[in-house]
Amino acid sequence: MKGIVFTEFLDLVEQQFGFAMVDDIIEACELPSGGSYTSIGTYDHTEIVDLVSALSTRTEMSVPDLLKFYGEHLFGRFVILYPQFFENGRRTAFDFLEGVEDYIHVEVRKLYPNDQLPRFDVSRPDPGSMVMIYHSTRHLEDVAEGLIEGCLKHYGEACGIVREPDAESGGVRFTLTEKSEADE
Ligand code: HEM
Repeated sequence: MKGIVFTEFLDLVEQQFGFAMVDDIIEACELPSGGSYTSIGTYDHTEIVDLVSALSTRTEMSVPDLLKFYGEHLFGRFVILYPQFFENGRRTAFDFLEGVEDYIHVEVRKLYPNDQLPRFDVSRPDPGSMVMIYHSTRHLEDVAEGLIEGCLKHYGEACGIVREPDAESGGVRFTLTEKSEADE
């Protein structure tokens, strides 16, 4: 997994819990990388899971909640770090999310040839809803959910998100349904 995923995570931990916490979780994990990440390096994705578990035991937050919180934060960082992906006329969260598989991650793959990206099967059953089925051997569906929430926030949109296993494909299905004004 790309170093940027780690450096952004550790920056968030420092911001929320202080540098001593960053030091503490790195020490606790005995990581193969030693915990010194560069944004362009590549590291085993299990290191992020270990770091999040160590953080969870030291905070009041569960591992899934921490991963979601991190995903939401990461989307805000992507807006700053990759402005090119926000300059192509995608005006709604659904349009943006629809482009993650066919455009954004395709471009990410060109930037970082060794990356390990998930696959999303996306459909729009009707104008007010969207289905994204997430497939990845890394099972970072909590991060995916946080990224989706971060995206909705960025576009100022409100959606209900239902997450469930997709029995047919073995993936994780996210069903996003726009909230009408009457729901709010
Ligand atoms: C500007 C927007 C985006 C950029 C630049 C981007 C880029 C990246 C990069 C660099 C990685 C790490 C690849 C690696 O580890 O080698 C990644 C992984 C990932 N991305 Fe995206 N991404 C974007 C939007 C999204 C969105 C909106 C979602 C969710 C719908 C998403 C879901 C994921 C997930 C879950 C992973 C973790 C790897 C896995 O699950 O297998 N990304 N992305």
